Amino acid sequence: MINIPKGTKDVLPSESYKWQYVEGMAREVSKLFNLKEIRTPVFEHTELFSRGVGETTDVVTKEMYTFKDKGDRSITLKPEGTAGAVRSFIENGLVNGVLPAKLYYIIPAFRYERPQAGRLREFHQFGVEIFGAKTADTDAEAIIIADTLLKKLGLKVKVKINSIGCPACRKAYNRALKEFFAPYLDELCFDCKSRFEKNPLRLLDCKEDDCKRINVNAPQILDYLCADCSSHFEDLKNYLTTAGVEYEIDSRIVRGLDYYTRTVFEFTSTAIGAQGTVCGGGRYDGLIEQLGGKECPAVGFAVGIERLLMLMEQTGVSIPDDEKPTVYIAGMDENCRKKAFEICAKLRTAGVIAEIDHMERSIKAQFKYADKLGAKYVAVIGGNELEQGVMNVKNMSNGESESVGFDLAVEYFLGK
Ligand code: HAM
Repeated sequence: MINIPKGTKDVLPSESYKWQYVEGMAREVSKLFNLKEIRTPVFEHTELFSRGVGETTDVVTKEMYTFKDKGDRSITLKPEGTAGAVRSFIENGLVNGVLPAKLYYIIPAFRYERPQAGRLREFHQFGVEIFGAKTADTDAEAIIIADTLLKKLGLKVKVKINSIGCPACRKAYNRALKEFFAPYLDELCFDCKSRFEKNPLRLLDCKEDDCKRINVNAPQILDYLCADCSSHFEDLKNYLTTAGVEYEIDSRIVRGLDYYTRTVFEFTSTAIGAQGTVCGGGRYDGLIEQLGGKECPAVGFAVGIERLLMLMEQTGVSIPDDEKPTVYIAGMDENCRKKAFEICAKLRTAGVIAEIDHMERSIKAQFKYADKLGAKYVAVIGGNELEQGVMNVKNMSNGESESVGFDLAVEYFLGK
């Protein structure tokens, strides 16, 4: 037997209705906020991610699924959705179109991580990107979109926000970080030693216990924001308050990807263990230009669908079950089955969810099967019924039966 690759999951028919529900809600919320769907390839040129996501991030240095194709090009399965959306936005000239461009996507993403609960190698994201708007009401809108989705799904999760400033204030902060970490250089992990040189902000994102212990007392970015970044952050807080979105300021949020500027945010929960971040995002004003486009501000986020489903399960949020068949038509013998087949076809054409037997079951076994499917009605056609042109319809919720003519079947079941 060939097994499923480590860190991936099948969504079985018994579970897929949950995915459809969450994805349906994500599309509904997207509509509410006037977001349009963008679909980009599952793989891109590796350079898009190394330049876009950042050379010093764990995602790029350790986690990408990268391979050479037969044309000797370096290709990578997308580890996240932002870089691909930005590439497409630039390549299709949307940067010259009507702004802001408000986009969403539902995608598989791939990261070679150590699998554990809530951490997979293939996972799925609902992501939102808003291109072209620089004011803090847009950052607030991104947060409100995520908040609306989470609330509509019945979850109580609070957003944590922070600002990591712009390249100007980051310079002063990086200097302060280097001064702080310099005495601890020997104690830092191998990766952090190189982060210290290349991108000190990444030191704050290290998962190693020793580094985390040292990080606790590191200087805080909020103390180093320039006047513009400070007032942007103040505006954001005011907009969130206006919209009635509760938030918490967490100066430790720096995010794991390099493209962020100013606002960063995360929705986390302790109910699903160590991998508690269900949604992460922020502003990334430099990325579009960095990937070859015009100067164009942007903000967005992504929700991890597996973590969302885990959280819904852990917190007892029930998901409306799949649609059940309205009617199961059982046939007693071969001729009756043929009639059942014919009526079933008519019902389906009219839009009634109907089912019949395909396994040559006995009438008793057909009833059992209809029950398993959760059919609301079971219509039985026996020899007598076939002669009289009727079927005996049993309402499975109250046990009552009545006779319904074959020619009235569609009329009878429509709207049941
Ligand atoms: P991210 O924080 O790397 O951000 O991922 C967003 C969400 O995807 C996480 O909060 C988590 O729920 C889920 N996720 C990430 N890695 C895994 C994994 N290995 N297994 C299961 N779920 C995972 C981004 O990807 C950014 N592109 C978000 C963004 C959009 N920022 C601006 N625009």
